[in-house]
Amino acid sequence: MQAELRRVKAEGGWGAIFTEYVAIAPEDDVLPFVLGTIWDDDDVANLALMCDAVHEHEALAGIELGYGGAHSPNRQSRLVPRAPTQHAAEAQHGWLTYTTAAASSDEVRAMQKLHVDAAIRAREAGFDIMGVYGGHGQGPMQFLSPYFNKRTDEYGGSFENRSRFWLELLEGVKEAVGDECAIACRLAVDDLRPVNGVTIEETLRLIELCDELVDLWDLTIGDQEWGEDLGTSRFYGEDHQGEWQRVVREHTSKPLVGVGRYTSPDTMVSIIRSGQLDIIGAARPSIADPFLPRKINEGRLDDIRECIGCNACVARWDSFAPIVCTQNATMGEEYRRGWHPERFSQASNAQNDVLVVGAGPAGMECARVLGERGMRRIHLLDLEDEIGGSVRWISQLPGLGEWRRVINYRQLQLEKLKNVEVILRQELDVDAVLDYGAELVVIATGSSFALDGDNYVTREAIPGIDATQPHCLTPEQIMRGGKSVPGDHVVVFDADGYVAGIGLSERLRREGKAVTYVTPFSSVGAYTMYTGEYPIVARRFHELGIEVRTETMVTSVAPGTVTTEYLYEESALRHFPDPDGNVRESHAQPVSIDADAIVVVGTRWSDDRLFHALNARKDEWDDVGIADVFRVGDCVAPRQIADVVFDGHRLAREIDEPNPHVARPYLRERRLVERLTSTA
Ligand SMILES: Cc1cc2nc3c(=O)[nH]c(=O)nc-3n(C[C@H](O)[C@H](O)[C@H](O)COP(=O)(O)O)c2cc1C
Ligand code: SF4
Repeated sequence: MQAELRRVKAEGGWGAIFTEYVAIAPEDDVLPFVLGTIWDDDDVANLALMCDAVHEHEALAGIELGYGGAHSPNRQSRLVPRAPTQHAAEAQHGWLTYTTAAASSDEVRAMQKLHVDAAIRAREAGFDIMGVYGGHGQGPMQFLSPYFNKRTDEYGGSFENRSRFWLELLEGVKEAVGDECAIACRLAVDDLRPVNGVTIEETLRLIELCDELVDLWDLTIGDQEWGEDLGTSRFYGEDHQGEWQRVVREHTSKPLVGVGRYTSPDTMVSIIRSGQLDIIGAARPSIADPFLPRKINEGRLDDIRECIGCNACVARWDSFAPIVCTQNATMGEEYRRGWHPERFSQASNAQNDVLVVGAGPAGMECARVLGERGMRRIHLLDLEDEIGGSVRWISQLPGLGEWRRVINYRQLQLEKLKNVEVILRQELDVDAVLDYGAELVVIATGSSFALDGDNYVTREAIPGIDATQPHCLTPEQIMRGGKSVPGDHVVVFDADGYVAGIGLSERLRREGKAVTYVTPFSSVGAYTMYTGEYPIVARRFHELGIEVRTETMVTSVAPGTVTTEYLYEESALRHFPDPDGNVRESHAQPVSIDADAIVVVGTRWSDDRLFHALNARKDEWDDVGIADVFRVGDCVAPRQIADVVFDGHRLAREIDEPNPHVARPYLRERRLVERLTSTA
């Protein structure tokens, strides 16, 4: 999967394509995170696939050799990672791995040798660039960092001692493979730790110290809290690491590469011209558009599919799943579904007309891909006066302006496609669809938030919540319908855990209201744990003075009062049901909040009425020339934007399959064993 993903990037014009973190030895085992290993010759063979694929397109292949040390859970290998000093358990995910053993001097040298051996294997696999990974607080950086390193021997204490590990490690790698491969070193210019961090001055000293051993410095910022490096557009704009990059230049004679969600060719050019960097690095921009460099080269700037800075990609990684992208539905599907981001086959049923009802993210993407696949005519209809569906209001939440790129990219592409017509301010009922004259119909009518407080905890309405009343409001009513939030104090009840609840809390607070954020989840904006934004969201809430009540349910609402209860208010131990059917005692201590209004971010329901109404009249389809009716996106089930874009894309890719309702099977990478059959 990774070989194909990277082949496509190489084809798209990137000069060098890197792996993610590749663990160098079993004592650095990061399962269940989806990462590479270069532990043995089998890994060499697997990684060679990627190198060959990248080389076919004349790009360079780079590997990031990682040793997490204090960050390695080692849940599969059950081995103990080594680190400069023994540490308390890694707090991440609450795993009790009691991670590190304080390395003896011999073990320090063994850790360095693991890197060297891995580099030799990587060269064998065909890699051109060896990336020694000390960014994000990984192994070598732990030696430099006073936060991790409390040693008193020659590897701890003074700067000279704390930098010794890096120096010897780089010497070893250079000696082993430096004649054939370039050596890149990834490190944070500033780990941003307020206490015991690696200061910028020390990083610059390290760069000076090791400059002759390195061919390329690969700069980031931040430590284990890597949301600072992976800055989302909610908080940081393009080139948000620029200030840190600029201080490095005068301390090195080697080229600099850096990152900062670079999608604008103008920014890239000015960064290179100013000498800030020599090479533009890109993780997310290359995920959103693997063909970005080629499009620049060909002058097709308006075809660039710009990253929106949402971090849906890394959220999957942080929740142990394969990569996805909000903007690029083909990301991660290159091998398993055979999808190419820029190539589309002519549909074998292209002689058909298609009506797509609903121009939200799924409908837009479906129409775009159907257009690329050469369907005769595609009409994309929406009842609003602009396309975009839910993205229109979501992108107006604080900091989410860049999310409009989901619309902007598709709008431009749809305009270019001669076979697609966008028709606005059109609401079709079932008769109108039947009369429309299209052979294929795709319903993409989206979803909306429950008006009655239905939520994932009780899976029922909450007594007293009724968003037809002035004091109860849904996100869409505020953002789309302009419903005003009465009074000075508002409760935001967030049983969704992502953009709407946190965005509206911030917006209402900035409008001057007192805001109490109530959520059954254990943290503010629960999903932001995965996007890397959580600490920033929590700080933002704190600095804005938004009151937070987690693991709390709203149990009833009356004008002026929101009643809440602690989520786990019952007795700890169950018992056999008593005559009233109770299995636990209730210790409920309801807490009332005086509030003028409540914003209810609960369940979203599909708007699937049109789809079902059409199905109810299936016997008329033949007569009116309808061959099939499909549904995509939130109309099937409300989901993240990345998933509904995928859904629209999937249907369009498979519109000429015998049964496009059902997704084609995809290739799974797994080991197949022969079935054991008894011949006795
Ligand atoms: C899905 C994903 C996985 C990443 N994995 C790694 C990794 O394994 N090693 C690493 O050094 N950085 C990793 N990063 C961080 C990127 O290398 C990069 O520093 C960061 O995304 C900022 O660059 P960008 O603005 O171009 O995305 C990852 C980023 C993403 C989006
Ligand atoms: S998922 Fe979001 S942040 Fe990640 S590459 Fe795609 S658009 Fe960018």
